[in-house]
Amino acid sequence: MCGIVGILGGGDVAIPIFEALKRLEYRGYDSAGIATIDNGEIVRRRAAGKLNALHEKLGAAPLAGRAGIGHTRWATHGAPIEENAHPHATDHVSIVHNGIIENFRELRDELAAKGRNFQSATDSEVIAQLITVFVEEEGAAPIEAFRKMLGRVRGAFAIAAVFAGNDDLILAARKGSPLAIGRGDGEMFVGSDAFALAPFTNRVTYLDEGDHAAITRAGFEVFDGSGATVKRRETVSSASDAMVDKDGHRHFMAKEIHEQPEVVGHTLARFVDPTDASLLAFGANFDFKKLDRLTISACGTAYYAGLIAKYWFEKWARLPVEIDIASELRYRDIPYAEKGGAIFVSQSGETADTLAALREAKAHGQRIGAVVNVAESSIAREADDIFQINAGPEIGVASTKAFTCQLVTLACLAIKAGADRGLLSKDEQSGLVAALMEIPRLIAEALQQEAAIEKISAELSKARDILYIGRGVSFPMALEGALKLKEISYIHAEGYAAGELKHGPIALIDEHVPVVVVAPSDRHYEKTISNMHEIIARGGRPLLISDKRGIKAAGDVWAAIEAPDTHPLLSPLVYAVPVQLLAYFAATAKGTDVDQPRNLAKSVTVE
Ligand code: M6R
Repeated sequence: MCGIVGILGGGDVAIPIFEALKRLEYRGYDSAGIATIDNGEIVRRRAAGKLNALHEKLGAAPLAGRAGIGHTRWATHGAPIEENAHPHATDHVSIVHNGIIENFRELRDELAAKGRNFQSATDSEVIAQLITVFVEEEGAAPIEAFRKMLGRVRGAFAIAAVFAGNDDLILAARKGSPLAIGRGDGEMFVGSDAFALAPFTNRVTYLDEGDHAAITRAGFEVFDGSGATVKRRETVSSASDAMVDKDGHRHFMAKEIHEQPEVVGHTLARFVDPTDASLLAFGANFDFKKLDRLTISACGTAYYAGLIAKYWFEKWARLPVEIDIASELRYRDIPYAEKGGAIFVSQSGETADTLAALREAKAHGQRIGAVVNVAESSIAREADDIFQINAGPEIGVASTKAFTCQLVTLACLAIKAGADRGLLSKDEQSGLVAALMEIPRLIAEALQQEAAIEKISAELSKARDILYIGRGVSFPMALEGALKLKEISYIHAEGYAAGELKHGPIALIDEHVPVVVVAPSDRHYEKTISNMHEIIARGGRPLLISDKRGIKAAGDVWAAIEAPDTHPLLSPLVYAVPVQLLAYFAATAKGTDVDQPRNLAKSVTVE
C-alpha cells in the first residue's frame, strides 16, 4: 500500500508534508514525492528509494507553495524509479494515488490515441491524464473533471489532487482505500490515516466508500457515490502526535517483540475480568449458540493466528471451523451455513483480500466479526462486531505483537463460544482465563532467552534453506516461523506439519538444512520427537524449541531453545517469542533491512 498526504496550509507546506510522510513510510518505501502549487504552477520533487533520498532533493532544491500533496509508494505497476514515483502531474493537475486502476490499459490506449504523452509506466498516471483531457477538451472545472475521471476509472483507490492556478483546493476520493480529512485552524489536511494527521489535528472525518470531497481552507464538502452532498461524522482521533520511536531498540521489530508482555496484557484487559478470572461481556451480537459453523479468514500472519484459533474453537466450543486464506476464500463457491458466523483477522484492517472475503461472506448472510488493531479501518467499519486488539501501532513490516494480541483475542472468543454453547463449565472457563492471564509473564520469561537465541541465529543465518515443523497448534507456529524468517532474512524457509515430513519434504534433509522443531511437552510431543529423530538419522540439524522437560527427554540435538511451561493449547502465545527472535537475529546477522524488507509493505491494499 502507499501513503497519501495533502495540506492546505498557512505557509509553505513541503516540509510539513515531508514530516507527515515520515509517519506513513511504513506503508510503502520504494519511492516518494511531493508536489506543491507555487505561483499558480505545479512544482514537484520525487526520488527513488527511502524518504531520505527525497529529503536530500528537498534540501538541494526546496519547494515553496501553500498547497501540496505527498506520497510514499509501494510499486504495483512500474518499477520503483523516479519517473514512476508520485505525484504524477500534467500542466493542469497533480495527483497521488493508493490502490490499483484496473482498467488502466484501456484508458491509457484511449488517451495515447488522443495524443496524451505518458511520463511513467504506472496505472496511476491515467488519473492525471483523464482529468487533463476533461479540463482541456471540455473546459471542465476541477471538480467536474475530477468527477468525470471517477466515472471512468475502475478498481480500488484513494486519490488526492491539486490544481494549477488554485492553491486553495484539494480534491479527494475514496473507494477501497481509506482516506481521512483533518480540520485545523485555517488549515486543512488529508491523509491515509489519522496517524499521519496527528501532529496537525485530531479532528478527523473519514470518507465513506465511494465518497469524494472538495477541500478548501474554509472547510470541506463531501459527496457520496451519486454525487449528493452528505455529512460524515467528525471524530476526535486518539492517534498520538508523538512520532513513534524505537525506544532505544535498533529496530521497530525488536521494540515490538519486547512490547508483547505489556500489549498482550492490555488486550486481555479488554476481554477478561482479572478479579475472578471470568470473561467480560463482549460481542453481544455475535451469538455463538446459534452458529452451526464458523468461517475464519485472513492473510499472512493473521491467517496463522486464525489457524491456531481453529483448534481452540473446535476443542472448547465444538464449533466446526472453515478456514482459508482470504485471497482463496473470496473466490471459492462456499456453501455458507445459513446464519453462519465469519471472523476476519487483520492488524491493519485494510488488507484488500481480507476485506473482499468479508464482503463475500456478508453477501451470503454471515454475521461478521472483525479482529483488528486499527479501530477506524475498513474491515472494522464493515463488521457487525469489532473485537479490537490493543497492540498499539505496529510499524515493523513483520507482524509480531499484533500476532500475539490476535491470538489472545481469538482465545477469549473461543472460550466465550464454549461458554455460550454450554460446553465449558464456569470452572473450565476460569481455568482457561487464568491460564491466559499467565501469558504476559510467560512471554517476559521467554524473552530472557534472547542472548542464547541471538547466538543460535548467527549459525542459522548461514543456511540457504530451513524447515520448520510442528504438530497440533505448533503446526501453524511452524508456518508462522518460516514466514517470519523468509520475509526479513530472505532465507528460504518452509513450515510443515511434522507428520507430513515423510510424505515428501524429508527428501530435502541433509547436513546443510537446519530444521526448527516446535515441540512443547503436549500430547503431540513424542510423535514430533520421533519425526525429529528421522531427521537426525538422515544427517539433518534439528533446532528444538521446547520446555525444560521436553529438551531433556529429546536426547542429543544440534541446538535447543528453552521456552517456559504453558497450557498445552496456549503454547503458541509463548512460542511466538523464540520464533520471532530467531528470525530477527538471523536477519540482523545477515544485515538486511529488518523493518522495511525488500518488496514488502506493511499492509497490502491491492489484490
Ligand atoms: O494487516 P493484516 O494483518 O491484514 O496483514 C496481513 C499480512 O499481510 C501480514 O500479516 C503479513 O503477512 C506480515 N508481513 C507478516 O509478518
